[in-house]
Amino acid sequence: MKGNIVQFGNFFHQNNFSKLILSWFKKNQRHLYWRDNRSLYLTYLTEIMLQQTSVKTVENKLKVYLDKFPNFSSYRSKKLNDLLSSWSGLGYYNRAENLFKSIKIINEKYKGKIPSNKFELLALPGIGQYTANAILSIGFNKKAYPIDVNIRRLLTRILDCTLTDEELERVLDISFKNKRNFRNFSESMMDYSSSICKKSSPLCNECIFNKFCKSAYKKFDKKILKKIKHQNLEFYIIKKNNLLCFIKNPSFQFYKKFNHLPSNLDKKFISFIKFAEKQKVMSFKYSITNHRFKINVYNLKNLKINYQNIKWVKKTELKKIALPTLFKKILY
Ligand code: ADE
Repeated sequence: MKGNIVQFGNFFHQNNFSKLILSWFKKNQRHLYWRDNRSLYLTYLTEIMLQQTSVKTVENKLKVYLDKFPNFSSYRSKKLNDLLSSWSGLGYYNRAENLFKSIKIINEKYKGKIPSNKFELLALPGIGQYTANAILSIGFNKKAYPIDVNIRRLLTRILDCTLTDEELERVLDISFKNKRNFRNFSESMMDYSSSICKKSSPLCNECIFNKFCKSAYKKFDKKILKKIKHQNLEFYIIKKNNLLCFIKNPSFQFYKKFNHLPSNLDKKFISFIKFAEKQKVMSFKYSITNHRFKINVYNLKNLKINYQNIKWVKKTELKKIALPTLFKKILY
């Protein structure tokens, strides 16, 4: 479709986009824990979690996380490591670090209340345009239009035209004439785009926009395959009485900040050890993002270690260290 932003906005408005999607939402909205127990803290926290983790995983992990971190002030008595332990299973741990830094600022500078001003939100680590707009519209019901990958797909399919996120925000602003319930408007687009206007098999037959959508009934099932990377990885279990050997290696892509079992990628560590026996314990496949690992785990026996940067952890105290899911799978 050709046109300028105002024409696109009017096109949405004339076709009752906001009215239709809001009434669809009334009947079909997802009941998610953070919606049924709304608070600014929960909205902020879940938006950070949902940046790179699916709704299903966040739903599964959230309650246990909230036992330890129920509100902003609960972070005052906690260390980053406590948070990293509770973040286990959500992945992309730099979000957890940013969350910790941001909540420190919220507690100290804003007396435990998240700011409702976009510039102040954007200044917090880990909050970009999308998350700031989501917090403003969902948390504060303020005028803001979060555009994530799903919402972008819905809008650009209707127009059959690629626009920037700022342009899409303007289109929505022009089209959303009743301008009252920004929260429902944002959440309705999130739910609609993920359940009806799906990435590879959109449900055009059921779609309430199919009469005017410029991409209705097109084929979308050509999956764009992410380049999958295959790699063999070895991890070593090294025991000393009832202690287990862990190391940290800042250049280990997925576990930079974490204690992890030594691996064949930890070249420096490997160069400092000598062992007489290597015994295979288990072998399995494991995926992280687009990486597919074939993992072999070995017991190393009769070992000499001449390396300083190791941490010996009692088997019974593994729960006390922030242990990524992969190592729980190996050790529990
Ligand atoms: N994806 C990102 N934020 C979301 C939310 N608040 N509800 C459902 N899905 C989401």
